[in-house]
Order: sequence, then structure tokens, then C-alpha cells
Amino acid sequence: MIIILFGPPGCGKGTQAALIKKNFGYPHLSTGDMLREAVNNNTETGQLAAKIMEQGKLVSDEIVINIIKERIVKDDCEKGFILDGFPRTLSQAEALDKMLKNLNRHVKLVIEFAVNDNVLIERIAGRFSCKDCGAGYNDLTLIPKKEGVCDICGGHNFIRRKDDNKETTLKRLEAYNEETMPLLPYYKKKNLLFSIDGLAKIDDVANEVEELIKK
Ligand code: AP5
Repeated sequence: MIIILFGPPGCGKGTQAALIKKNFGYPHLSTGDMLREAVNNNTETGQLAAKIMEQGKLVSDEIVINIIKERIVKDDCEKGFILDGFPRTLSQAEALDKMLKNLNRHVKLVIEFAVNDNVLIERIAGRFSCKDCGAGYNDLTLIPKKEGVCDICGGHNFIRRKDDNKETTLKRLEAYNEETMPLLPYYKKKNLLFSIDGLAKIDDVANEVEELIKK
């Protein structure tokens, strides 16, 4: 099953993708994570993307489309995958349809997490993650059970994203509203779009997601 998780920065795409991966075994394909990895490894793509990401703007369609094209043909994607943060423009959506058609596959479900901007800014400001295993936490809603120790791997190193400050978050929201939101009618027309209340508790959102996947 190919699932697209859709919504503005901080709406819970990454959080829910990790839970779908745990419960259903589909790999989690986050273009944001892939780009951050490229930046950390200082690859050519990383060098092109770094500044743009820090400014809260969208990286070029060409770069992200190529990243996804190479990723979805890997063996672990055979039974399905979760797209988190892709597509983000109409060109990306059309390119995805084209590449899936060539593989004789199609998107099964697009889940939008409906939220409001004030909550997003708060959530993003509180977000941090384990440097060793990537587990996500939040100062306000999801702190490690033992202070300074990752619940999952026992690691002690935590990191915050460079673009998780208020100024960049506002730019990211602007990019979402201008370039990504217009994609909603594209998926609505295809009868693939379902909207969930992203302001509900993480477990409640996860239950609704699970129901949609099992339908
Ligand atoms: P990306 O990494 O995709 O960031 P984003 O879309 O801005 O989304 P986030 O990762 O910020 O939020 P999320 O929805 O995953 O929320 P999360 O689950 O972490 O992209 C970063 C940048 O890369 C872009 O700005 C762009 O430059 C570039 N890029 C990436 N893809 C691209 C593309 N396709 N085209 C062009 N450029 C691209 O949740 C946030 C926090 O809230 C967490 O702390 C979590 O614990 C908490 N939380 C989650 N759900 C709940 C809940 N229900 N209740 C309470 N707290 C919650």
C-alpha cells in the first residue's frame, strides 16, 4: 500500500509515519530526513539543499523527484511505503504519478492532518530527537521517561533541527500554504483524500490512521 501523509510542518506526519512503520511494516520515506542526511554527509545534493532548508523554502522539484525515484525501487518498498513530505508541489505529484505508472503501481491513500498554525509553532519549537536512533520527543508533549535518556535506545545525545525556529517555521508555513495546499484538490478529485483531526492526541490520531489503512 502506498500512503501519502499530508499537512503543514509540525502537523504530525513524521510521528504518525513512525507508528505506521511500526504497526504495518511499511518503510517511512521522508524527503526532509533524506535531505538532512545529504546535508550532514555534505553530498552535492546536501550542499544545494542546505541554505534553502535553513530559509524554510522548498528545495527544487528536480532534486526531490530524483531522490524519491531512486528510493521507491528498492526492495523494501515492494509491498508499499509511506511518503512523508512528498509530494509538495503539483509537479512533484505529477512526477510521482508518472513514476508509479511506469512501475504499474498507484497511490492508495492520502491522509491530511488538519491543524492550526499556532499549535504548529509551539509543537515545532518543542521538538527534539535522539541523535543515535532518531526517536522523536517534545518538550511539551513527549519527554523521555528518564530525563536525558532516550526511551528507545538509551542514548544520551539529543538534537534539534536548524529550521525549527519561529522565523523559519513561519516561512515553512508560507511555503506550505502557497505551494503545497493547492495539491489537496488534486487528490480529492482522485477520491484518495481523507482528513483527520491532527490536534487530537497522538494515540487517537494513530487509531484513526490505522482504521483508514485497514478499510
Ligand atoms: P520536512 O522534514 O518534511 O519538514 P516539514 O514538512 O516541515 O514537517 P515536520 O517534519 O516539521 O513536521 P511533521 O509533520 O513531520 O511533524 P512531527 O511528527 O515531527 O521538510 C524540511 C525541509 O526540507 C522543507 O522545509 C524543505 O526545505 C525541504 N523539503 C522536504 N521535502 C521536500 C519536498 N518534497 N520538496 C521540496 N523541499 C522539500 O511533529 C512535530 C512535533 O509535534 C513533534 O515534537 C511531535 O512529538 C509533536 N506532535 C505530533 N503529533 C502530535 C499530536 N497529535 N499532539 C501533540 N503533539 C504532537
